[in-house]
Formats: sequence, structure tokens, C-alpha cells
Amino acid sequence: MEKLIGSKKFTKLKTAIFISGSGSNFHNLIKFSITKKSPIKITYVISNNSKAKGLCFAKKFKISFKIFRFRNKIRDEKEILINLKKRKIDLICLAGFMKILSKNFIKKFDGKILNIHPSLLPKYKGLNTHLRAIRNNEKFSGCTVHFVNSKLDSGKIILQKKVRISKKDTPNTLAKKVLKQEHILYPKALTKLFSNP
Ligand code: GRF
Repeated sequence: MEKLIGSKKFTKLKTAIFISGSGSNFHNLIKFSITKKSPIKITYVISNNSKAKGLCFAKKFKISFKIFRFRNKIRDEKEILINLKKRKIDLICLAGFMKILSKNFIKKFDGKILNIHPSLLPKYKGLNTHLRAIRNNEKFSGCTVHFVNSKLDSGKIILQKKVRISKKDTPNTLAKKVLKQEHILYPKALTKLFSNP
């Protein structure tokens, strides 16, 4: 990672965002990326879902995007890697991307893939985090930005933000509260990792 930071000290990191759904984190990262202080420039978007609402932001901000359905994961990942190389992508940010990338893919971008997860990792890896946190009577949940390694939601943690769970919270209301914090946390994590002091 240090190498990446060192070699790209004065230019914004060419970043690809991977999405699957509503893309609110993606939208938020676009807004962040066009600020002067941002260490990233978003130049490519991958979605596994052609109906992902988030794709409207790629269109609105004229960012190239491509759909890979992951029906044949090996073939699609190979194609994605070719595209990322062609576009000289430095960094991948997963933002609500619902497919699990293979070990081989992750190895090719070792230390250069980040993810945001809606729980206080290592608690509640995987899906349905809010429902599980509420059922377990947790007092807090939150979100985590972490590096992606070959084990699901287990890479090194970069930043976390706690969110209080109230007695009235449902998985939906908690998701909204956590999402709001995700939008603050992802840019903060990128700044922490890549901005010059
Ligand atoms: C976010 O809570 C993200 O952490 C999770 O899925 C949700 C996606 O939201 N993986 P969006 O697509 O960024 O709006």
C-alpha cells in the first residue's frame, strides 16, 4: 500500500467503483472525488446488475460503466481485469457490491481493494447485518471500511463508526442510520489512506 501511496503522491488515484444496487455510497464518492482534496478520481464503474439504480449516477456524471452479470465468474473476472488494466486503474472501491470476488482476482489487486460493510466488523460479517444485530439486542451497530482479502469481510480495518441502536429500531431504520454514517466514513477512510499530510 505504501508503494501505491508513494508512487501516486501527486496524482489522484484512478479508481473503479463496483456496485450492485441503489449506489448511494457511489453517488457520495463521486461528490467527494470531485472535490480538490480528494485523493481519488473515479474513472470506471462495474455493476453485476444492469438494473442497479446506481448506474444513473454513472450516466449523470459521465463515468464509463460496464455490466458483468457474473454468471460465469471466471470469465467475467478475467474480462474485468483486462478492462481495469487498460484503464490503468489503481484502486477498487466496493460500494454495495453483492458478489464475492475470487481469491485470484483479489491477488491481482492485492492491497488495492476497499469495501464498506454495514456492521462493526468483526461482528456480523455477511448479509442481514442489521436484523442480526437487533435480534442479538446489541446496543451499537455501525459501519466499517476495510481492505478486501480472500476471506469475506475479514481484511484489515481502516476506519469504523459506531451507531447507537434504539429500542424502536427496525432493520430498516437502523440501515438508514448506518448508511448516513457510511457516507461520511468512506471518504474519511480514503483521505486517511491516501492524502498527503
Ligand atoms: C450499504 O449499506 C453497504 O454497506 C452495503 O449495502 C448497502 C449499499 O448501499 N454493502 P448503496 O448501494 O451504497 O446505497
